[in-house]
Amino acid sequence: MNIILLGPPGAGKGTQARILCEERDMIQLSTGDMLREAKQSGTEMGQRVADVMARGELVTDEIVIGLIREKLEGEKKGGFIFDGFPRTLAQVDALADLLAEEGETLHSVIEMRVDDDALVARITARSTCANCGEVYNDLTKPIPEDGKCAKCGGTEFTRRADDNEESLKQRLMEYYKKTSPLIGYYYAKGQLAPVNGLGEIAEVRAAIARVLDASEGAAGRDA
Ligand code: AP5
Repeated sequence: MNIILLGPPGAGKGTQARILCEERDMIQLSTGDMLREAKQSGTEMGQRVADVMARGELVTDEIVIGLIREKLEGEKKGGFIFDGFPRTLAQVDALADLLAEEGETLHSVIEMRVDDDALVARITARSTCANCGEVYNDLTKPIPEDGKCAKCGGTEFTRRADDNEESLKQRLMEYYKKTSPLIGYYYAKGQLAPVNGLGEIAEVRAAIARVLDASEGAAGRDA
């Protein structure tokens, strides 16, 4: 199964992708995480990327497509979860070409729907384990009382440079202007599966599982 998790900043894409990796042995391909790694590299390209991300704008198609291309050539396990990619129609076309080159298909595009007020509340309360990347939230999924990450025991937690109200405003504008047209495109292709992203993490997980189980069933019948 190869799927896209599509949704605005804070919709819960990363949270659900990590659950799918654990439960279905899938591989999360988060362009945001890849770009944050590039930022740490200290190269000139990394610094340029960091500046664009801090402003809440989109990095060029060329850079993110190159990052995804490298990952698709590696192992495939239970399939890919594209988290935060594609974000433009040019990236949609590139993904279709890259999957075809690998003899792979896109099975489902899960649109995670969350209203803007909830997004602001979620993002400004987010923190991440610096060691394993587990995502926490001051309001809905607080760091355990002993101050240790529940996944790895790490004690250092970070907040993202773009998780402030000003960058978030720009990220939302980028989403509505450049990424939301993808919803209509995938709907027309019959691949869109909307999910209510406003429920609790376990409820959203269950809704996504229903979509994937149905899609897997349909793929089995077609085979
Ligand atoms: P990226 O890292 O992809 O960020 P994003 O799309 O803005 O999404 P987020 O990671 O902020 O949110 P999420 O949906 O993963 O939510 P999460 O699960 O963490 O991109 C960052 C930047 O990189 C972009 O702005 C751009 O500059 C660049 N970039 C990346 N990809 C690109 C591309 N393809 N092209 C060009 N540029 C690109 O959850 C958020 C919080 O809510 C957490 O605290 C979590 O615990 C909590 N939460 C999650 N689910 C729930 C729930 N159901 N109920 C309550 N709380 C919840």
